[in-house]
Amino acid sequence: MAYQYITTPIYYVNGSPHIGHAHTSIMGDILKRYHLMHGEPTLYSTGTDEHGQKIQQVIEASGMEAEDFLAVQAGRFQELFDRCNVSYDIFVRTTHESHKRIVQEVLQKLYREGLIRKKEYTGLYCVGCEQFKMEAELDDQGRCRDHLTVPQKQTETNYFFALEPHRQWLIDWLTADDTLIRPDNYRREILGMLTEPLDDLCISRPRSRVWHGIVLPFDPNFVSYVWFDALLNYTSNIGMYHHPDFDRWWSNVTHIMAKDIIKTHIIYWPIMLRAAGFNPPKRYRIHGYWVAEGGQKMSKSLGNVVDPSQVIDAFGVDALRYYLAKTMGGNDAQISMELIRAVYNTDLANNIGNLHSRVVKFVTKRCDNRVPAPEAVHPDDQQLQESVARTCREIVDTIDLITLPDTVKSLVHTADTMNTYYNDMEPWKRVKDPSQTDRFLSICYVMLDCLRMFFQAARPIIPESSDKALVSIGADPVPDIPIAWQPKPGSLVPGAPMGETDALFPRID
Ligand code: MSP
Repeated sequence: MAYQYITTPIYYVNGSPHIGHAHTSIMGDILKRYHLMHGEPTLYSTGTDEHGQKIQQVIEASGMEAEDFLAVQAGRFQELFDRCNVSYDIFVRTTHESHKRIVQEVLQKLYREGLIRKKEYTGLYCVGCEQFKMEAELDDQGRCRDHLTVPQKQTETNYFFALEPHRQWLIDWLTADDTLIRPDNYRREILGMLTEPLDDLCISRPRSRVWHGIVLPFDPNFVSYVWFDALLNYTSNIGMYHHPDFDRWWSNVTHIMAKDIIKTHIIYWPIMLRAAGFNPPKRYRIHGYWVAEGGQKMSKSLGNVVDPSQVIDAFGVDALRYYLAKTMGGNDAQISMELIRAVYNTDLANNIGNLHSRVVKFVTKRCDNRVPAPEAVHPDDQQLQESVARTCREIVDTIDLITLPDTVKSLVHTADTMNTYYNDMEPWKRVKDPSQTDRFLSICYVMLDCLRMFFQAARPIIPESSDKALVSIGADPVPDIPIAWQPKPGSLVPGAPMGETDALFPRID
């Protein structure tokens, strides 16, 4: 059993929370719930990145006090994640005092050790990325490829932190462990960036230009570079220099993010940690980008943005979670209301939901609202029970975000197997034949017991519907605490009262 610490990026509060933010935070939640089912104590953090020039600009435009503006925006993210059933343990806000103090401590330590130097620098700054850009990183019109804006030329005196002395160490670290980064192409991309010497990292901004940041402890005319501040949330959350449990969580951290921010996380961050006297992160799980149907970038002007709240209103929260889990691996994936509707109807309404409602309606009616009690489970039924137990066990054991679409496939396949079995066994015919009573009860019992294992294994992905389903079949809910889960065929208690049988996923046309 290992302690698990899971993190998502902390999101900029200059815009509205959108499907990409919902995605990563839901993925973290799914991972957390599976770890709890492995019996592993798990700490999960998500939150908001609230400093820097880009946020300063929107605060100024809002006409509000910074503190009020930030509280409203952070609240919108929190609200969305709550609606998505994201069971975070820590909601980070980088404007919290405890975080600011730790960032200042790290800066002070690096400065004291002579690792931070002041110098003049001229570079091309993209406010959207909050990063200086190399010419080679721009498109043929000299624009940032992500923001399609021309970066501003800036000459400033700032504080710098040298990355180059750590480059060889970083390469060795990245090549030593092939489970560190998944999918592997992102590791190769970073190794490609490391073939050239690394520029010094500018870790400050003059306060005359950026007033909204953490003040450098050794020079009050400057604030910390927003990425330096933001990355440290991962360690400030768990106390860094101050908490006795820090190592327990830090030694097994999983950073989840999309491919857009791997350079800051896989080059700057491990080097910052090393310089500050800490181990580098344990693992990274990187996903692709959500794009609109047809592969276009989502944009308000094209009208193809998928709003997570609208998806929840139309199809329910589990339909959103299910679509994201089924469709996104390490590469880009497409999303639209129509695509979600199609998957909802095919997988959730027609397959999983229909199986659940047929079985539960029939059994409650024929077995007097109670879990049937067969004399003995028939060997043919037992075979189904064991095969469902085996698949569910595998699903829970082998969980990895990058292969989550395969996990969803296994669940659908298991539902197909149960559907076929139920059709072939025709309990509605056997119930009319008194000589078959025992076999009839065995089939009904085993179907419910298989549904129990199925919904327990699916629960991290579709928690709300799984809980409803488990109550409906008279099973115990899965508690949100670390308990090593076992499918244990036959653990549904005969005679237990069955609950409500509302359709889990009514068809939506
Ligand atoms: N604030 C920085 C991160 C600092 S972490 C120390 C930042 N914020 S962000 O608001 O731009 O969020 C980026 C992250 O949001 C991505 O890495 C990903 O997790 C999620 N996504 C944002 N848009 C996305 C898509 N279109 N598709 C998938 N995920 C996306 O970068």
